[in-house]
Amino acid sequence: MNELHLARLIEFLRFPSVSTTPAHQGDMRRCAEWLGAELRAMGLSVEIAPTAGHPVVLACNAHRSERRTVMIYGHYDVQPVDPIALWTTPPFEPRVENGIVYARGATDNKGQILAHVLGMAETIQRAGELPLNVILLIEGEEEIGSPHLEEFLVARRDELRCDVIAISDTGMVAPKVPTFTYGLRGIVTVEVRVSGPATDLHSGIFGGAVANPVTVLARLIATLHDAHGRIVVEGFHDDVTPLQQWERDAWARLPINDAEIQRLTGVPALFGEEGYSAIERTWARPTAEVNGIGGGFQGEGTKTVIAREAFAKLSFRLVPEQRPDQVRAAVERHFKKHCPPSVHLQIDHGHSGEPYLTDPQSAFGLAAQRALRRTFDNDLALIREGGSIPIVNTFKRVLGVETLLLGLALPDCKAHAPNENFPLENFYAGIQLNQALLEELGA
Ligand code: BES
Ligand code: MN
Repeated sequence: MNELHLARLIEFLRFPSVSTTPAHQGDMRRCAEWLGAELRAMGLSVEIAPTAGHPVVLACNAHRSERRTVMIYGHYDVQPVDPIALWTTPPFEPRVENGIVYARGATDNKGQILAHVLGMAETIQRAGELPLNVILLIEGEEEIGSPHLEEFLVARRDELRCDVIAISDTGMVAPKVPTFTYGLRGIVTVEVRVSGPATDLHSGIFGGAVANPVTVLARLIATLHDAHGRIVVEGFHDDVTPLQQWERDAWARLPINDAEIQRLTGVPALFGEEGYSAIERTWARPTAEVNGIGGGFQGEGTKTVIAREAFAKLSFRLVPEQRPDQVRAAVERHFKKHCPPSVHLQIDHGHSGEPYLTDPQSAFGLAAQRALRRTFDNDLALIREGGSIPIVNTFKRVLGVETLLLGLALPDCKAHAPNENFPLENFYAGIQLNQALLEELGA
């Protein structure tokens, strides 16, 4: 328990740094400046670098050419808070209860990135300096797909040259279980819009004579899967790498299983592609999900109307070696093929990112695992994750560097949901982890 560290975390969590919402632009800037001031106070050189979107916070210690350079990446932006009514206490008024801090961003990613920052602060205080060259890159647009970060990496390639990148923005399989993640799913997002009548119509006067856009959209969405939960978009599975047997064996021994996933999600029964466990489906199989749907009357009571249009926001999670552009093309062909002539179809493409897979037995991978073991003193879990951090592949492509994923989130952290939370135990462990990691990577 360190009251000073906790106070820093609570200050950080008070900024409503929601990157997707234009009204929060000022909060984004203030949050970046707060971080910058913290890093400057530690003796690092800091730049709040503007981008075409939200600023990037960039910091480094004094580099020495004979030392290795590690980049630590994280993000200070957070997801929107809605549905706000389901929060027990307001999302930007952090509450600590039973050793757990509740706030939007507590886990994803403020608690995790601040643990690295404070770990470095402790090392600098104790030893006078860090054991290697460090670059801290904390962006403000991760939750909207990092639209300006690639351009930034390309423009600053020389300054950002490093040997390896470390990120704490993934999960642990269970409390106190050190977890090294060697794979992430990729993502493709699309918005599908179905329209028909030139205006909303009276559903009595015209109902029966025209196709209802909401019905057509529902039917289109339903063509994505068969009754067993398998995606039936032609060509979708072409490049999917099957799960390796060693992964299935190792994952079957982890302290997380179908029963636990059912408990965490609160569903009456699990559902998904046949022949795979829940973690196999989420970590190593692709999916198609509806993230939002709209059309027609949404208010209380009834309104007899045929809406002129309906929309759905979809995302597809990809596994190695699926390629976002090919999946996007397959999905577009699929919808065009199934769309009836009674409506217009419009497909808008959103952000995307490639899946990631790295060798857990690389020298840096093993160093990270030693740091995790030192911190948690427990059997280590080697996993892949269902979530996406698209910039990880961009790091590889632009900087030529692999990324180590050392997650600190727990399965019930409620990332992206009401009552997001982070145990202080993990926050303090993260502060220790950073110190062990820099030592192991510098050795
Ligand atoms: N921290 C998550 C990614 C994550 C979560 C990876 C859990 C592994 C396990 C990150 O902040 C996130 O939410 N990413 C988005 C990316 C998208 C907006 C491009 C995601 O996965 O939905
Ligand atoms: Mn997130």
